[in-house]
Amino acid sequence: MRKVALVVGGTGGIGRAVVDMLLGTGAEVYATYRREGERVEALEKSFPACHLVRCDIRSQKEIDETVASIVAAHAAIDVVVNATAAPLKLKRIDALSEAGFLEDLQVYALGAFHLYKAILPLLKKQERGGLLIQFLTAALNQPAPRMSSYVGAKGALRELARSAVAELQSYPIRIVSISPSYVETPLLGAFPRAFLALQKEKLPKKRFIQPEEIARLVKDIIEDPARYPSGAEIPAYEPAAHPL
Ligand SMILES: NC(=O)c1ccc[n+]([C@@H]2O[C@H](COP(=O)([O-])OP(=O)(O)OC[C@H]3O[C@@H](n4cnc5c(N)ncnc54)[C@H](OP(=O)(O)O)[C@@H]3O)[C@@H](O)[C@H]2O)c1
Repeated sequence: MRKVALVVGGTGGIGRAVVDMLLGTGAEVYATYRREGERVEALEKSFPACHLVRCDIRSQKEIDETVASIVAAHAAIDVVVNATAAPLKLKRIDALSEAGFLEDLQVYALGAFHLYKAILPLLKKQERGGLLIQFLTAALNQPAPRMSSYVGAKGALRELARSAVAELQSYPIRIVSISPSYVETPLLGAFPRAFLALQKEKLPKKRFIQPEEIARLVKDIIEDPARYPSGAEIPAYEPAAHPL
């Protein structure tokens, strides 16, 4: 049976690689973007088979409409990958604005809540269940300076997922989290170049994880439920330390 997949944040570094991978498996793929522009045009050009939908994860209405449009066309959704990211604030707590703190909570925690609200009733109804993949961060276990709103929001996301996993035990629904360290995507553009070069230098292979490696991990998660059961949090650290 052809799988139906939704990638939220499909224009991002990881989202785009996941879209590419999913199309390669023959899935029907929907990808969301928030802002019009070059990244949307590039996605459209590279992957004409991908359905593009504008959707801001901070809006329950927009998420509901996105899910409803997919259900209207296919009556099911098998895989949802939430690859949204808000720009990194990189400010110490005493210099961080309330708006900045709120944006991270809205994109990562409230956004995930919106997505769960939209998708879980559908997955519960589907006999074949479904899979939701989301991204945490390696920084959750090793908080770094200037990352408080990011790590705080990811912590809320982690606990939201753990609660959902507990509630969904009797359903064939998996929620799986990937916890990467640095992945080479536009998100990292917020860091000074010299800082990134220093971080790379510390890694055994002197390079960050590539989005395509994360996409391969997403493929493994889809294909191997026994290895990646619901509630799994998969560390995706430097290339040498992970089975990528
Ligand atoms: N890159 C890393 O080193 C790294 C490490 C650990 C975890 N992660 C996690 O991996 C996930 C993907 O990150 P990435 O590196 O691929 O980020 P990215 O390249 O910056 O892409 C972010 C994506 O999120 C979308 N987006 C932003 N705000 C949105 C909103 N309000 N509603 C809907 N979509 C929105 C962006 O769309 P527009 O372009 O239209 O704004 C874009 O498609 C994130 O959850 C991130 O925290 C990344």
